[in-house]
This record gives sequence, structure tokens and C-alpha cells, in this order.
Amino acid sequence: MERFDLVILGAGAAGLFCAGAAARRGRRVVVLDHAARPGEKIRISGGGRCNFTNRELTRQNAAERFVSENPRFALSALSRFTPADMIARLDRAGIAWHEKHRGQLFCDGKATQVVEMLVEDLRAGGGELRLGTSVAGLERLGEGFVVETSGGPIAAERVVVATGGKSIPKMGASALGYKIAESFGLALVETRPGLVPLTFAEQDLARTAPLAGIARAARVRRGKVAFDEDLLFTHRGLSGPAILQISSYWREGDALEIDLAPGRDIAAELAQIRAEQGRIAIQTALGRLVPEKLAQFVVAEAGLAGRLADQNNRALERLAGQVHRWQVRPVGSEGYRTAEVTLGGVSTAELDAKTLEAKRVPGLHFIGEVVDVTGWLGGYNFQWAWASAWAAGQVA
Ligand code: FDA
Repeated sequence: MERFDLVILGAGAAGLFCAGAAARRGRRVVVLDHAARPGEKIRISGGGRCNFTNRELTRQNAAERFVSENPRFALSALSRFTPADMIARLDRAGIAWHEKHRGQLFCDGKATQVVEMLVEDLRAGGGELRLGTSVAGLERLGEGFVVETSGGPIAAERVVVATGGKSIPKMGASALGYKIAESFGLALVETRPGLVPLTFAEQDLARTAPLAGIARAARVRRGKVAFDEDLLFTHRGLSGPAILQISSYWREGDALEIDLAPGRDIAAELAQIRAEQGRIAIQTALGRLVPEKLAQFVVAEAGLAGRLADQNNRALERLAGQVHRWQVRPVGSEGYRTAEVTLGGVSTAELDAKTLEAKRVPGLHFIGEVVDVTGWLGGYNFQWAWASAWAAGQVA
């Protein structure tokens, strides 16, 4: 049987990065992936430019920017391999980057440069990459493991599971990592799509359909969590960064409260127009403050009609409330087909925060998205992939 010091399952961001780190330590490493190409999600990420990290991430805000049953779990790995460390890696590889919005760093050129850098690191350390190789199972063999693959069994001293989440099945996502965890009796946190557009029920869609295509800055709130970002009305419901962010906190049955004109006082602005041109229709007046179709929708939702001059202050407040505190109850999400990430996964309670090794299965590590650690939109998920991979790569 073939033997390696370390077998890594999954040639995505985490698997490739971990392989490079372990190979540099002189470990004999092989990375297995059923896909035809490595790092496919890196390639398509950030609109093809890979938002590879976020430099706003600090030890102080990390627990808030990652969703997990134990948000503090990620701090150890995140503080030992930081956004500055990843920037230094790209700089050394000569990959130019720029900052876009709120600390989000993107490559100037194609995201494939990052994949090439990771594969090059792996090869420079003498590691092997085997693509088109499916993994049928993993079992204990003495102190080590046997990996059953389409190319025959491979014996390994240690195994790192970096098979990612369930998002975008047509790109090779599978539940292998979760199945392996289960087969070793490790607890899983229920998985669900995250960073995903939300959908409306038929009766809501009938009312919002004319709004499809409208994009605007908004504040979207669910309970105590709120995001100030762009929102997009779609033919199925809502999307845009504000919705993707809140989707990771949203549960079926929850209502969202949306401010469609954050930082403004629509009641005061309407009162001003009323003082100057009270004869215009209320929806014409609101149409000067927000897109016309949105104004029509809001006026209808508030149950108002007629001239602006005929509306008392209470009516204007009601209308403004509809703009600033629109209550909407999505019925679902677009699911794993379009979700950028998978929430939940291998329970952090099962893993050592420093090494990502399963406490009850020595030699078996879980890194990246397969773990119950999910970041905000904006480079946080790749930073978790790099940091958890680096942590495991120092010992595996
Ligand atoms: P990843 O999914 O990258 O890799 C898992 C690997 O395992 C894949 O190569 C897969 O083929 C392989 N695999 C799975 N099952 C297998 C099996 N049964 N046998 C063999 N191999 C198997 N994040 C961010 O920070 N910035 C961004 O710009 C974006 N943009 C973005 C866009 C889109 C469209 C998506 C879908 C996602 C993002 N993300 C992102 C999220 C980010 O891509 C994601 O969090 C990381 O890729 C996770 O890295 P992993 O290595 O854990 O999994």
C-alpha cells in the first residue's frame, strides 16, 4: 500500500494552504480531490478576483465576524495567521492587490494567480496533488489511517479533512467531510446555506415583483444584528450584500426589519415638500426621495392615497415608518445552489483550537469551511481557510 505522512482531502483554499505548510516542514504530503482542477472556488471568488482576506479583522472583532456555536474558537488560529501574514504571502509571490470596501482585499489580476501560488508552494515542498481522485472512505489503521480512493488505498500517519461545505454542488461540493466526522462519532452542528439570497412567498412576490432590479443602500436588521450595505430586489425576493450578510443570522420564520433610506428622515423630508408643494400626489412626493416604483410600493403598503397636503403628520410618520422600518418575512433562501458558504459543520467542541485536531481521534484534523466557523462576507471565509490550514499545517 502507498504511504504518506499526511493525506489531505480537498484541494481547495484550506487543503492547498495546509499542504504547503506541512510540505515545508519536510512532511511527505499528498492532496486528493475529485475535481479536475484545484481551488475552483478560489477561481470564481470575488467576481474572479478573489477577495482573499479582510484587513479590518482584529482579535477584538473576530468573535463578532464569525458565526459559530462557539465564535471564540476561531480566535486562536486567526491570531496566529493574520490578514497581514496573507498579504505578505501574496507580496512575496508578486501578486498585486487592492482594497475595495471595508477592508476587503482583492487581487488586481485573476484569482487563478492565488491558486497557482498555492500549487507552486505545495510542489516546492515536494508535495503531490492528485486530481480526479474520489475518496470512498477513511478508516483507522493502527495509530494512523487508510484512505480508500478511486486510485486504491493510501496509508497515512495523519489526515486533514478540507473538503469544504455543501455550497455550489455543481463545483464539486460534497458532504464527505461531514460523513467522515460522523463515522468517527464526532458531533456536527446542523448545516444550512449562508451568505445567500432570501426568497419571498408567492403573495409577497406579487407585490414586490415590480421592484426587481432596484438596488439601494439599506440597513437590514434581525434582532440585535444589523448590516449597512447595498440591498437588491430580485424576482425571487431580496439579495445584495446586506441580505447575504443577514442571511447567516436569519432562521425560517424570522422577520427582517429593513431601513430603505438609512441616515435620512423621510417624514421630515415629506413635511418639507408638503410645505412647498402640497398639491402633488403623495406617491409623486415620495418618488422624489426614493425610486418611483419603490415609492408606489411603499404608499400602497401604508394604505395611503391622495394629495400630500391632505396627509397629516401621523400619516407621514406611518409612511416614513414603512420606509425606515419595513417588516418583511422571507420564506426561505435560494439554498446551496447559490449560497457562498455553509453554516454549521464539524462541532468546534470536538476540535483542539490550536491544531484543529479531533480531540477524540488523534491524527485527524478538520480545517476550513467543513468546521462550524463561518465568516462574514468580505474575505473572512478565506482568512479562516488560511488560518485554520496554517494552524494544522504546523503539526499535521
Ligand atoms: P473549498 O470548497 O474551497 O474546497 C473543498 C475542496 O474539496 C474542493 O476542491 C472539492 O472539490 C473537494 N471535495 C469535496 N468533496 C470531495 C470528495 N468527496 N472527494 C474529493 N474531494 C472533495 N470567501 C471569501 O473569503 N472571499 C470571497 O471572495 C469569496 N467568494 C466566494 C464566491 C463564491 C461563488 C463562493 C461559492 C464562495 C466564495 N467564498 C469567498 C467562500 C470561500 O470560497 C470558501 O469559504 C472557501 O473556499 C472554503 O475553503 P475550503 O478549502 O474549506 O473549501
